[in-house]
Amino acid sequence: MRTLAHLSDLHVGKDAATAWSARRLVRALDAAGVDRVLVTGDVTDRGRLEELRLFRRIVAPLGPERVLVVPGNHDRIGEDAGRYLMAGRVHAVVSPGLFAIRLDSTAPHNRSLVDGHGLLTERDIAEVEALLGAAPAGALVVLMLHHHLHALPEEGFLERLSSLVGWPNADELPLGGRLLERLLGRCDLVLHGHRHVPGELVLGEEGDRPLRVLNAGCSTRLGRVRVMAHREGQVLAERWLDVSPGAPAALPVGGTPIAA
Ligand SMILES: [Fe+2]
Ligand SMILES: [Fe+2]
Repeated sequence: MRTLAHLSDLHVGKDAATAWSARRLVRALDAAGVDRVLVTGDVTDRGRLEELRLFRRIVAPLGPERVLVVPGNHDRIGEDAGRYLMAGRVHAVVSPGLFAIRLDSTAPHNRSLVDGHGLLTERDIAEVEALLGAAPAGALVVLMLHHHLHALPEEGFLERLSSLVGWPNADELPLGGRLLERLLGRCDLVLHGHRHVPGELVLGEEGDRPLRVLNAGCSTRLGRVRVMAHREGQVLAERWLDVSPGAPAALPVGGTPIAA
């Protein structure tokens, strides 16, 4: 049995409460002995190098080999801390029981704070497809990226306003639907963030290999993180680890508690 956790939109550097929440999440994941922690972008709030250093100090107890990161639009502003999070746009990481494809969905336009939408190109999709063909049998196949692949409701006044005037800020990645089609039957999980409200979409016909598209939301604001146990390419159990103030001890969600 292997375990993974999905964090997103930590926005480290925003304020002391955010850093405190990030530390609590990391401490809980470390105590749970989670094998891999997948972080889908916006690890910093303003793309500052100082914020990146703070993020690295916070996740240091997990050890660098346990943490996989992709950049988000907030990592590209300011001092562009995002350029230190990933080399190239598509990259696969193979570890026991897990085949994770990291996709950088940010772009140069994200250097501007008001242009938060992502970029997905035909070449990105082709590279992801090529990697899918290399996934070992029996591994859980996961795609991690920051931006969302399917339409989601706007969050907050500014996003509603931006959609109203025709700006793409709140839109899904324009080729997102095409990528989802290519993933069906070959991938188990899409992990993303960007939108701060968590969500889930399950794709695939009855009897097919289901494709679950999971948005972690803003983990530091929520104070909780989804942890999954998997074996031979199947998620066997999952739960939310809740570290928010006053939260009860970790409750199982929709399944049996994960073995330590
Ligand atoms: Fe964010
Ligand atoms: Fe974002």
